[in-house]
Amino acid sequence: MTNSHFDAFVVRETAEGRFEGAVESKGSDELPEGSLRIQVDYSSLNYKDALSASGNRGVTRHYPHTPGIDAAGVVLESADPRWKAGDPALVTGYDLGMNTSGGFGQQIRIPAEWALPLPGGLNAEDAMALGTAGFTAAICLDRLIGHSLKPDHGPILVTGGSGGVGTVAILLLKKLGYRVEAMNGRTDRTPYLSSLGVDEILDPASVIDSSSKPLLRGRWVGAVDTVGGDILASVLKQIQKRGIVACCGNAASHVLQTTVLPFILNGITLTGTDSANAPQDERERLWNRLATDWSLPGLSRHVREIGLGQLDSELKQMLGSTPPGRVRLRLKD
Ligand SMILES: NC(=O)c1ccc[n+]([C@@H]2O[C@H](COP(=O)([O-])OP(=O)(O)OC[C@H]3O[C@@H](n4cnc5c(N)ncnc54)[C@H](OP(=O)(O)O)[C@@H]3O)[C@@H](O)[C@H]2O)c1
Repeated sequence: MTNSHFDAFVVRETAEGRFEGAVESKGSDELPEGSLRIQVDYSSLNYKDALSASGNRGVTRHYPHTPGIDAAGVVLESADPRWKAGDPALVTGYDLGMNTSGGFGQQIRIPAEWALPLPGGLNAEDAMALGTAGFTAAICLDRLIGHSLKPDHGPILVTGGSGGVGTVAILLLKKLGYRVEAMNGRTDRTPYLSSLGVDEILDPASVIDSSSKPLLRGRWVGAVDTVGGDILASVLKQIQKRGIVACCGNAASHVLQTTVLPFILNGITLTGTDSANAPQDERERLWNRLATDWSLPGLSRHVREIGLGQLDSELKQMLGSTPPGRVRLRLKD
């Protein structure tokens, strides 16, 4: 098999223990084992990529490494009869970009079981506007709908609304007719949240409760929480009876101090989201919805596109104060 060369963002550990990323030329013979080699046309940036690029061993154990938990493009070669060269393919999560060379390179090699056919109606560019963040928002929405929440039941709260998951969650909820409230600690994010169609923007002080009261007045029938910590604990106290919170992130903290009372007195549900290990049938079902009745033509207004040369600075920015919205990475020439 001939060795084909491509560009990739490679993170290396320096002798001083720092982690530095740069664009390098790699060969397909450096890619891991796998039945599917894919030409990556687009990827996208997620918080986990920034952790991987900064040397977080909880995400990536060994360096040099190419991060990128998302990839969309076309199959170059396949040892699996279900795929052939030229098929459009989509990969999110599993081990991609964690300890398997990821979508920040123009080629990946993966087990065929990780890939999905790109659903009709969605090209690689649109799929990577959504990426893992969009798929995660879709899982959260699916959980809310599966809990029989209807738009006329009351408002839904989204925390971390200006981030990638929050942006898609708000757009999906608005598309389906829900009233959406978003918590926003930064006044410079108000115009952005308004542009997403949020019905009410809430000051964190009006959401976070530091009293010892186990329950407060029910304000929301549901919530999508991307931040965790004290904010999630406060939200749980304020969910209406038999409401539901879809928890997917820990942007503020992974620690959750709460009581059982919202669960046993108000009958609320706290549901978790693990998009990286979502089963294939759930992936197929939700990506098909994102390509059809949940399609978001307006999302492109909230997506910035960058090239490999801009990746290093974008990833560093993600660990500080992220600009709002989604970032798509274009890898095709
Ligand atoms: N479970 C899953 O399958 C899954 C999948 C994707 C993502 N995630 C997780 O979901 C979270 C959001 O991901 P993302 O891709 O949307 O990230 P992102 O684009 O970086 O957005 C993070 C959001 O969180 C807010 N935030 C950050 N620190 C905060 C704090 N201390 N208090 C309150 N808000 C804070 C930010 O708002 P400001 O900058 O405006 O403050 C921003 O809106 C991350 O924790 C990520 O790891 C989980």
